[in-house]
Amino acid sequence: MNTRKITDRVAWMGAADWNRRLFDSLIPLPDGTSYNAYLVRGSEKTALLDSADPAKCDALMRQLADVAEVDYLVAHHAEQDHSGSLPAVAERYPAAKVVCTPKAKGMLVDHLGLPEERIVAVADGETVSLGDRTLEFIHTPWVHWPETMCTYLREDKILFSCDFFGSHLATTDLCVTDEALVYEAAKRYYAEIMMPFRTVIRKNIEKVEARDVRMIAPSHGPVYDRPAFILDAYKDWVSENVKNEVVLPYVSMHGSTELMVRHLVSALACRGVRVRVFDLAVTDLGKLAIALVDAATLVVGTPTVHVGPHPAVFYAAHLANALRPKLRFAAVIGSYGWSSKAIEQIAGLIPNLKVEILDSVLCRGLPRATDFAALDALAESIAARHAGL
Ligand code: FEO
Repeated sequence: MNTRKITDRVAWMGAADWNRRLFDSLIPLPDGTSYNAYLVRGSEKTALLDSADPAKCDALMRQLADVAEVDYLVAHHAEQDHSGSLPAVAERYPAAKVVCTPKAKGMLVDHLGLPEERIVAVADGETVSLGDRTLEFIHTPWVHWPETMCTYLREDKILFSCDFFGSHLATTDLCVTDEALVYEAAKRYYAEIMMPFRTVIRKNIEKVEARDVRMIAPSHGPVYDRPAFILDAYKDWVSENVKNEVVLPYVSMHGSTELMVRHLVSALACRGVRVRVFDLAVTDLGKLAIALVDAATLVVGTPTVHVGPHPAVFYAAHLANALRPKLRFAAVIGSYGWSSKAIEQIAGLIPNLKVEILDSVLCRGLPRATDFAALDALAESIAARHAGL
């Protein structure tokens, strides 16, 4: 793979990973991903910002074949999809110093076995001169590990943000050409990885916006040559605003819960509430995570399995709890054969969600007229609360 020119002094390196379908053995990648590294050449020194996943180390090393000297290897983040090829690159350039935050230093030693003496920790706001180009390091913790930072190339006004603002998207586009496509991929990325840290992300956005940023170059997905596009999207996602939306993940084993879900969806839609429905038996959990970014209410639909919720519901509830979306309300609907503790067990799975638990609806066997009436009442209750948002 060839390098690609972003400016006279900045080149894109790295690799698209078109066929990868799972990250961290957890996160679906419907559109693959990319591991972007960037080469910055000053009049006196050269820096490589990030590296690549070990699976794509060969591609990066081929791109570096004609680069005789690299003085600085900037590691914005210790996770292996960006740092994993650092040992090979450091071996090729034995005089190069690895530059990272103080927290990242120990992590690079622990995770990659890099020798401590090769690593220089930089303070927030510290700069390194490449001659006629200046790298300014901006500590941006928790995007999404505690050690993360960005680099601002002052003269070219480019922010290199690593995971921050990234999107899992394999593409030949160097810069964003289809904002709708990238919006979905970036929102998925935010939902799955960044959402638990939205409070600290707000502060990081402020730090970024204190600079004159003309371009944002993340280490996943295309470069933003219109930074306002992704900055505005992030500001919306991390805000306290919720939308008039219900997220409804559910499982149905014999059809009773399905009937209740269909009734509630219709009842909500008739009251002007938007609903996003996910059958957990088949859904892409990334789509569920995206829906959780904005929604005001979570309604979980479950049949009863051995007194508790279906195991797929356990998983989804645990995931929602871990992602800490800004939900305001929650309820459970579903069915049981002879007895159920599903409501209490689901409530116990979501302590991180600061929600008001609304009146839930469980029915024995097939739902009857009284159960449908209870679902109408739940829809009314949700619509009334959403009207006050
Ligand atoms: Fe793309 Fe947190 O690594």
